[in-house]
Amino acid sequence: MQFQITQTSNDKQVLYIIDDLKQIDKISGLSAEQLAYAKAQLGPDKSFVTLNLYKRYVWIYLYSSKKTEAQSHDACRKQGADLQAMTNRQKVAELCIDNLSHFHLAAYLVAEGMAMANYQFLTYRTDAKKLTNALKKISFTKQSATLKEVQQLQIIIDAIYKVRTLVNEPVNSLSAEGLAKAISVMAKEAGFKISVLHKAQITKEKMGGLLAVNRGSKQPPTFSIMEYKPARSINKKPIVLVGKGIVYDTGGLSLKPTPNSMDRMKSDMSGAALVSGAMYTIAKLKLPLHVIALAPATDNRPGEEAYTPGDIITMYDGTFVEVMNTDAEGRLILADALHYAKRYKPELVLDFATLTGAASAAVGEHGIVCMGTAEESVKHAFKQSGFRQYERLVEFPLWDEYGDMIKSDYADLKNVGGPTGGAITAGKFLEHFTDYPWMHFDIAGVSFATAKKGYTTIGGTAYGMRMLLDFLAHYGKA
Ligand code: BES
Ligand code: MN
Ligand code: ZN
Repeated sequence: MQFQITQTSNDKQVLYIIDDLKQIDKISGLSAEQLAYAKAQLGPDKSFVTLNLYKRYVWIYLYSSKKTEAQSHDACRKQGADLQAMTNRQKVAELCIDNLSHFHLAAYLVAEGMAMANYQFLTYRTDAKKLTNALKKISFTKQSATLKEVQQLQIIIDAIYKVRTLVNEPVNSLSAEGLAKAISVMAKEAGFKISVLHKAQITKEKMGGLLAVNRGSKQPPTFSIMEYKPARSINKKPIVLVGKGIVYDTGGLSLKPTPNSMDRMKSDMSGAALVSGAMYTIAKLKLPLHVIALAPATDNRPGEEAYTPGDIITMYDGTFVEVMNTDAEGRLILADALHYAKRYKPELVLDFATLTGAASAAVGEHGIVCMGTAEESVKHAFKQSGFRQYERLVEFPLWDEYGDMIKSDYADLKNVGGPTGGAITAGKFLEHFTDYPWMHFDIAGVSFATAKKGYTTIGGTAYGMRMLLDFLAHYGKA
């Protein structure tokens, strides 16, 4: 998708945004009859009208505020998604948004919804040409968006597309090495540093969690280290992002069933994709923040050498972990990355992971389960960002009693809790490997969609990335 600011909206396909019917009179190029028709159509229970002028379409969206600001914002994105579906049916390649309303952000939000809804993954379709959506370009009249907003939207949408595509690529085209390469391409394009630890270095470092999970695989693991350090940054100590990069999760010897379970596990690297997309955006936007991102990656398979329930493994930090279930692999690779993060003496560490079915069961596809040891003010800022971007957060507790559930009879910890509180016991496990302010985001319920709905396209969603970027963009500002 391409975004730009345009001088004039005449003669183009135009979406007018209004918040008062009187503003219809400001629309030029329509006959008195057409204006009257539009006014008669729109009202409290109809917020959108299409005028078919044969040579072009004119759409009018009557914006009105909803119960909360977050819902008002998201109504704009959803309207954008509806309009995207229309442009596709009507074979509209380019349209212009002219915001006549008092709500400045409306144009940005509608365009964001349109662009997110327009994403497609057609790499493996021989009929890709035929299937490709018509819409290619969204322009804004001068009063509808600032150049800065348009540039920001372009970068964020590009990042969302990249993240979704990484998630949608199956493991037979995206191994751990492949993921590291893809991240390197993003690093080059956006201008952040990347170094990749390969199997020999990971072995030398004794990253026992990552190596244990990798044992059943024929493909080597990787550990990608990304860094963006601008000349001037508001944070003295870095912010470290950590993303789970399980490029495929069969469950290992604790094998998953296939339908609605293993069949979607190419998405188990969504956390790694999300933090890479965030780095891409941070660098492109030149945010004044020193940020590092870590992406441990491997597939989890039941090969001959696979790690086994009952194994006691030595983690990167020296902790002994009794493996009770090889399907609780994410916490093992994340723990090593969280330990690695200590070397930076970070100000804040944020991990993103498709960690537990329990998180998904608890809140479904409408929010992220989060927990952590960061200050209350940080948690509050995150929740605000979640509402603004409509990628909402639900905080779970890290009470000590949940820690008792992962005590092992034979080792320091075991990698599963019990039948209840699964998202929290996973969080408690991760907490053991932190010694800095930290937040954990379990995106298991939101990272992958089984059907298109509004601006959420089927497959990878990139859900959570806009929330994270919103938090970072407001970081250090009260
Ligand atoms: N990758 C899964 C979690 C998951 C489930 C992600 C559904 C997306 C959708 C994770 O590795 C896993 O298998 N977790 C287990 C942990 C259990 C064995 C303690 C789970 O949640 O069942
Ligand atoms: Mn698993
Ligand atoms: Zn997993």
